[in-house]
Amino acid sequence: MSETEMLARFDLRAWPGSVDPALRDAAAAALEVGSVLVFPSLAFELDADERALVRAAGSDGSAKNISLDPATGVCKGSTLESEALGRLAAMLDRFGRQAQGLVAALEPGYAAGLVRGRTSFRPTEIKGRSSSWRKDDRRLHVDAFPSRPTRGQRILRVFCNIDPEGRPRIWRVGPDFETYARQFLPGFRPPLPGQAWLLHRVGVTRGVRSRYDAVMLFLHDAAKRDLAWQRSAAAEEVAFAPGTTWMTFTDQVPHAALAGCHALEQTFHVAPEALAQPARAPLGVLERLCGRALV
Ligand code: SIN
Ligand code: FE
Repeated sequence: MSETEMLARFDLRAWPGSVDPALRDAAAAALEVGSVLVFPSLAFELDADERALVRAAGSDGSAKNISLDPATGVCKGSTLESEALGRLAAMLDRFGRQAQGLVAALEPGYAAGLVRGRTSFRPTEIKGRSSSWRKDDRRLHVDAFPSRPTRGQRILRVFCNIDPEGRPRIWRVGPDFETYARQFLPGFRPPLPGQAWLLHRVGVTRGVRSRYDAVMLFLHDAAKRDLAWQRSAAAEEVAFAPGTTWMTFTDQVPHAALAGCHALEQTFHVAPEALAQPARAPLGVLERLCGRALV
C-alpha cells in the first residue's frame, strides 16, 4: 500500500453535525479498505482549566491509560481525586460525544450497528515506557482483546493529540491487512477442542472465544514477537501534530505508537452487518485465506 493509501487527509475544521457528501463518501470508502483518516485541523478545544488538568492527570500505575466507561460514568486509572476527577471525566465524555458525532457524520450507514465503548486519556510518554513484549504498542500489531472476544465486531478508534507541549504523536502504519495476515497465518495452530469454552468458564474471557478471535490474538502476538519482521515491514512513519484528529479500524490496520504524550482516544464497536465492504474486513479476509467460516 502506498503512503497515499495508508493515509487519507481531510480538511475538517469543526466537529461536524454533517459533512459534504463527497467528503463523506471518500472517507467512508478509505476507512473500510484500511486507511487512517487524518484531520490535521480538527482540534479538541481545551480551556485553561482543562490544560492544567491534562498536565496534572497522571496515571495511577494500575493501567497505562485513564479510561471512562460512558455507560457508568466511572473514570479509572488516574491519580486525580474528587472534583478534579469529575472535571477530567467530563472532558473525556465531551471528547467521546464529539468523536461519536464525527463517526455518525462520516459513516451514517453504521448507525444501527455502532456502540460507543470506553474513552481513554493517554498521559504517559510512549518513548522509553517499559512493558512486556505483548503489551508493547511500539511494535506493529493489529488490536485484539485477550479477554473480550469480538466475534467479528470491529474495533474503530478515534484519536486526538492534545499535548500542551506541542509534541507530535509518532506512529508507524502498515502493511495492509492481507500482507500482514499472510505473513503470520501459516504459524497458527488451532486451540484444543473445549479450550475456548474452558477459558470462558473459568472467567479468563467474557464470552466464548471464536476461531476468529483466536486467529486475531495469534496475529497480534506473532507480529509483536517477530523483531526481524518489525524492522523490515513495509510501514510508514507518520507524525500527528497536536490539534490533529485521526481515526482507523485498529483491528485491520497494523500500527505502532513510537512516541508522544497526551492523547485522547474513543473506541467504537461496529457490527459486521453494518459494513459496506465486509470482504475487506479482517473476518472476510481471514475466512477467504483459511477457506472456512471463523465465527
Ligand atoms: C495502540 O493502539 O497501539 C496505541 C496507540 C496510541 O496510543 O497512540
Ligand atoms: Fe493498538
